[in-house]
Amino acid sequence: MTKDATPVTRDGAREILKANDRGGYTVPNANVYPFQWNWDSAFVALGFQTFDEPRAWSELETLFSGQWDDGMVPHIVFHRPADGYYPGPAAWGTHHTPPTSGISQPPVAASAALRLFRAARDAQAARQRAQKLLPKLLAWHRWWHEIRDPDRSGLVTCVHPWESGRDNLPDWDAPLAAVTPTVDVSALRKDLTHVGAAERPTHDFYNRVMTLVEQARALGWNGAQIARESEFRVCDLGIQCILLRADRDLHDLAWALEDAAAATEVGHWIARSDAALTRLRADDGSFRSLDLRTGKLAPAITSATFLPLYARAVDQQTASALAELFERWATKARFAVPSTDPDFAGFDPQRYWRGPVWLVMNFMIADGFAGYGFSEIASRIREGSAGLVRQSGLREYFDPRNGDGLGGRDFSWSAAIVLCWDLVA
Ligand code: GLC
Repeated sequence: MTKDATPVTRDGAREILKANDRGGYTVPNANVYPFQWNWDSAFVALGFQTFDEPRAWSELETLFSGQWDDGMVPHIVFHRPADGYYPGPAAWGTHHTPPTSGISQPPVAASAALRLFRAARDAQAARQRAQKLLPKLLAWHRWWHEIRDPDRSGLVTCVHPWESGRDNLPDWDAPLAAVTPTVDVSALRKDLTHVGAAERPTHDFYNRVMTLVEQARALGWNGAQIARESEFRVCDLGIQCILLRADRDLHDLAWALEDAAAATEVGHWIARSDAALTRLRADDGSFRSLDLRTGKLAPAITSATFLPLYARAVDQQTASALAELFERWATKARFAVPSTDPDFAGFDPQRYWRGPVWLVMNFMIADGFAGYGFSEIASRIREGSAGLVRQSGLREYFDPRNGDGLGGRDFSWSAAIVLCWDLVA
């Protein structure tokens, strides 16, 4: 076991969620991330669902208290001031109460809501809460499909590496290199006081991503303008697949709640995204992110190449090719699924999103393989995830070579995956 890790139990995972609960919303981690994060909360809701259904719904509801008038659901909601994080509300300079960041994150919430609804022990309460959430979910997805897809291409635009939730991917190197940094924020960073520099992004990365924030601020956070004019415009394979799956789940939720108009609207989005996915396919058959400014596919394969399975967007033959790719990766890294291709020259098993394993990605990738009948691969991913937690505890991410725990400790979404995927006794 990695030093400092205490053996994780189901009770222990619940305790972490309770300890990170700030009253209706959960912080990803008390030190590094002291606010509410978007896709973290969607997974956290699945964790709460296993022992406190009302609390699971409130996690989604508090997230939507940050929703903007145009439908966007921000990647951070700053419910209360807290030290220890940069960039805070002042650096974003948005206009919302409660204060929020100005970009979004992968839309997992509709998928979480459908799961809460279907698994509900209190079906009546779940129906009421889902009914209130449905128009908000719909407005968010509409924002992706309209404001972030101004030409209705079926591919949505991501305007900031943090929006992808996979902040430091090699996919963003070239698009970020085209951004001229106009700020130096190295002295303002607070993450390096909590976590070693080798496990965190570089100063150059921070200067460029904060330049993008400055540019969006200068546009008054006007969504339509940012989508057209941002210096960073990519189609992130992760967002694209997670949105497509969330659309399918939203479609089912709308039908279950007998909202035919909503279901029809979502159905059009699904058809458009289904048709567009081939544009993200490289010659070697892998799926990749696309730089919308240059038209170039990303140079590396990342773990999101398996997410078209999660999106239920490929045929069986493509699914088999992805299963073969998974087997190739499995010979290179003891613990699945590394965030970046272990054969890629820039593979870095300890640095943010350039190699380490994240439990939430594993959960979605395993769901994808199971959905195409590859249940043996799905159980291997699940057992490997359980092994990581047994060895290193509820860490933020893990080294795929040896299972060492990395990043923050006592992480909420790691605890949530342990609970909803039933990884420990
Ligand atoms: C990091 C991750 C992001 C996550 C956040 C809070 O920024 O890259 O995906 O939402 O931490 O856990």
